[in-house]
Amino acid sequence: DEVYEFKNEPDTDFALASNIRWAEKIRDKWKNIGANGGYHASSVIGGKTLEHGDAIEVIDKSQYHENVVLGSYKKAAIQDLEDAVEIAKDDPDGWRKTSINYREKILMSVANEFKKDRADLIGIAAAEVGKVFSETDVEISEAIDFLNFYPYSVQKISKLEGVKLSAKGVGLVVSPWNFPIAIAVGGIAAALASGNTVILKPASVSVLCAHRLCECFWRAGISKNTLQLVITDGERAGEHLIPNPDIDFVIFTGGESTAYEMLKKCPSLHLSAETGGKNATIVTSLADRDQAVKNVIQSAFNNSGQKCSATSLLILEKELYVDKKFRAMLLDAAESLEVGSVWDFKNKIGTLSSKVSGNLAKSLEFLSEDEEWLLKPSYADENNPYLLKPSIRWGTHPGGFTHLNELFGPVLSVMSADDIYEAIEIVNETGYGLTSGIESLDEREQKIWREKIKAGNLYINRMTTGAIVTRQPFGGMGKSAIGSGKKAGGFNYVAQFMDIAHDITPL
Ligand code: ALA
Repeated sequence: DEVYEFKNEPDTDFALASNIRWAEKIRDKWKNIGANGGYHASSVIGGKTLEHGDAIEVIDKSQYHENVVLGSYKKAAIQDLEDAVEIAKDDPDGWRKTSINYREKILMSVANEFKKDRADLIGIAAAEVGKVFSETDVEISEAIDFLNFYPYSVQKISKLEGVKLSAKGVGLVVSPWNFPIAIAVGGIAAALASGNTVILKPASVSVLCAHRLCECFWRAGISKNTLQLVITDGERAGEHLIPNPDIDFVIFTGGESTAYEMLKKCPSLHLSAETGGKNATIVTSLADRDQAVKNVIQSAFNNSGQKCSATSLLILEKELYVDKKFRAMLLDAAESLEVGSVWDFKNKIGTLSSKVSGNLAKSLEFLSEDEEWLLKPSYADENNPYLLKPSIRWGTHPGGFTHLNELFGPVLSVMSADDIYEAIEIVNETGYGLTSGIESLDEREQKIWREKIKAGNLYINRMTTGAIVTRQPFGGMGKSAIGSGKKAGGFNYVAQFMDIAHDITPL
C-alpha cells in the first residue's frame, strides 16, 4: 500500500541559542515593517490581484501606540464577490478533475512552503494580531500537519472497497483572527484535498496573515483560480457571498451568533462550524496541585485567553477552594506572567487583537454578590488599551454572568463545588461543549468525569488548548458546533466536503 505514514511536525524549541538568534532576526525584520514600506494586501480573484477598493489601514498591534500603521488592505466590491464564486464554480484549471495522488503531492509542496516561510509568518502574526512567537510557531506546525494529513485521510477513504468519491464543488472558508494561520490553512487544505475549489474570506483583523499564507499555496502550484482570496467585511460576506447558491459548503470558525445568522438566512447551507466555548477545568482534591496550577494558567491566559479552547472556568472541589496555599499558588502563577510587547521575548502574553468590548468589557467592570477579585484587572501599560493583564474572579455563582457567557479574554472565573458530581453539573450547564479538563490523579474520578461531561475534547491532567492533529481531533458539541461540524484533524473531517457513493452489492 503506497499510502505514507503521517507524522506531526515538530515545533521550534525557543530555548536553544540558535533559535533565539533566529527569533532575533525575525524581530529585526518585522518590528518596524510599517516604517519600512509596510505590508499591503488585496483580494486575489481569478488570478488577478485587485487594484481597486477602499484602502483600509492596518494598525501595528505589536507597538505600544495605536497610531503605528503596519500596512493596508483593500476591500473587495460586491461584484468581486460574485466573480470569485463564478470562477470557483467554473474551475478553469480543472482542480476537481485531479487525482488524489496529484493533490497529495501538491499539498505536500505547500507544506514545504510553510516550513520555509515559518519565520515571516511568525513576524507578520506578531505585528498584525500581537501573537507571541511561540503561539504562532505551533500554528505553523499545525498548518503543516493539516496539509499532510487531509490528503492522507482522503487517500484512506478512497481505498475503502466499493467507495467512489467526488468533490462537492466550491468551498468557502471563513476564518478567524485568533488562529490566523492554522485554522485558515486547515479549512483550505481539507477542501482542496477533497477536490474542491476554495475561496478564503479571512477575518478583517488578520487579512495580512491570510494573504501571506495564500502565497504559500500559490507558490507551490495551487492556481489563483483554485484558491482565491476575498477580503471583505462580515456584513458584505453575509449579504453577498454566503447566500450565493453556487457555494456548496462553508467552513466557518467564529461566534455562534454568526453561525446561527448564516443558517437563518440560508437554511439549506451546508455549514461546518466550530464556534465558541465556555470551557472549564475541574480540579479535585486528588490532583497534583503544581501540575494543575501550571495547566490551568496556560489554558486560561496563553494568547490572552483568545482561544475557543481556553479554560474560562476553574471549578475547585471545596477542599481546594478553601485551601489558602492553593489560592496563593494560583495567584502567584498568574501574576508572574509577563505581559507586554511581543518583540521582547520575556513576555509570555502579547497584545489583544482588538480593544476590550462586549462580554469581556462587562466581565472587567462588575462583580456579582459574594464574588471578589483574586487578581484585579489591570493593564501592563495604562496608555495601551491592548495590553490587558490576566485577572481572576473568585466565587462565581452557578448561573452568574461569567459562568454562562464566553468572554474571549484573559479572565478566569473560579467556582466551588461540593464534589465531582456538582462540578460536572456546573460545567454542563453552560450549554457549550468544546473542550473540558480535569485535574485528578484518581482513575475513578477520571472515569466518572469522562462518562458525564458534555464536551468534544476531553483532557485529563493536560491543558485544554493546543489540540494536536490526529492525536486530538478537535471539535465540540452543543453551542460549540453548529451545522454538520466534524472534528478538525480527524479522519472524518474531509468526508464532509465530498459526495461519497458506495457500490450496492445485490444479496
Ligand atoms: N485547535 C485549537 C486548540 O486546540 C483551537 O487550542
